[in-house]
Amino acid sequence: VSPSSLDAFCAAKLAQLDAAKLRRRLVVSDRRDGLWIERDGRKLLSFSCNDYLNLSHDPRVKAAAAAAVERYGAGAAGSRLITGNHPLLEALEAKLAAFKGAEAACVFGSGYLANAGITPSLVGAGDIVFIDELAHSCLWAGAQLSKAQIVPFPHNDMDALEQLLRAKRGAARHALALTDGVFSMDGDLAPLPDLARLCADYDAWLMADDAHGLGVVGGGRGSARAFTTAPRIDLQMGTLSKAAGSYGGYVCTTRNVADFLVTRARTHVYSTGLPPASAAAALAALEIMEAEPERSERAIANAQRFARGIASAEAHSAIVPVLFGTTERALAAQAILEREGFLVVAIRPPTVPDGTARLRFAFTSAHPAEEIDRAAEIVRRLL
Ligand SMILES: Cc1ncc(COP(=O)(O)O)c(C=O)c1O
Repeated sequence: VSPSSLDAFCAAKLAQLDAAKLRRRLVVSDRRDGLWIERDGRKLLSFSCNDYLNLSHDPRVKAAAAAAVERYGAGAAGSRLITGNHPLLEALEAKLAAFKGAEAACVFGSGYLANAGITPSLVGAGDIVFIDELAHSCLWAGAQLSKAQIVPFPHNDMDALEQLLRAKRGAARHALALTDGVFSMDGDLAPLPDLARLCADYDAWLMADDAHGLGVVGGGRGSARAFTTAPRIDLQMGTLSKAAGSYGGYVCTTRNVADFLVTRARTHVYSTGLPPASAAAALAALEIMEAEPERSERAIANAQRFARGIASAEAHSAIVPVLFGTTERALAAQAILEREGFLVVAIRPPTVPDGTARLRFAFTSAHPAEEIDRAAEIVRRLL
């Protein structure tokens, strides 16, 4: 492909996206604290950050990151199996495993890298992956990289999953079920105890992506702790980039599984170790989560306050979706809220299914009640 035909190809694609109002653009977002953001010279109250506990700007978290840079440098300088396994990573893995009640943890460069690496290391041709249709894009990416047969199941529909397991499990060597713990664009929880029971009945391994659960649900320990009976989840995956206010991905599992991923997951083996600052910040954040569980309660209470304000279904996480259907309506709603001083970025297909464009409100422990009520009042008028 010559450079000029490549350029023409992208220009044509961009024009198509523009026409469908699906082109996305970067906007410089200057986050002043865990709550307020400056965009185009305007200060806006953000309902779009995943900084659920406002820890990205917590002085203790920032001080830990700064101290780690001083002591260990700005980068890990190698993959973990070569020279990038700095002492903070081992400390972080021990902390994560203890926090999640697991035997061991394995830290990756990001949540996306974790999901892109874990599934292909565990299943391949001759195996089968059952995946919730609304699971996060990077769970899908891992499944697609694995070469296993991919069988989507209707969102949270355990009867449908059981039928699929009954029909298809037998022919495959190994089976892996993939779901979000807290669904990123809807805020609802997977029925993990039922899912875990089904997986046990049909000898399918279970991985739950708790990117939006850690620090928020289950008293901050994640979606596996959000139920009266604790489900057995083989792989409790998550990210350090949301409630932990830092960056990096992880999976909590058994010692043998973690050791196997260390030596076989391509995104672990062939990618540079997480920078010391990110590891130190995450460690400090986990300590705060443990010591101050009221932060998680406030984040969920704020989401529930808003959900009541717009007469929507009860919130079980810090995420409340407001569906507008068309991309145009969602973008118009974003613009109206922005004029009122709120930042709520419209979520459009393909991130969400066609016809379900939405504003995704993400609440934190620090959103002021009167601003939540004002935002709810505006949204109610738009519905
Ligand atoms: C459910 C889910 N899983 C994984 C990720 C990826 O995590 P990371 O941002 O650490 O790559 C995200 C979002 O970023 C997510 O929402």
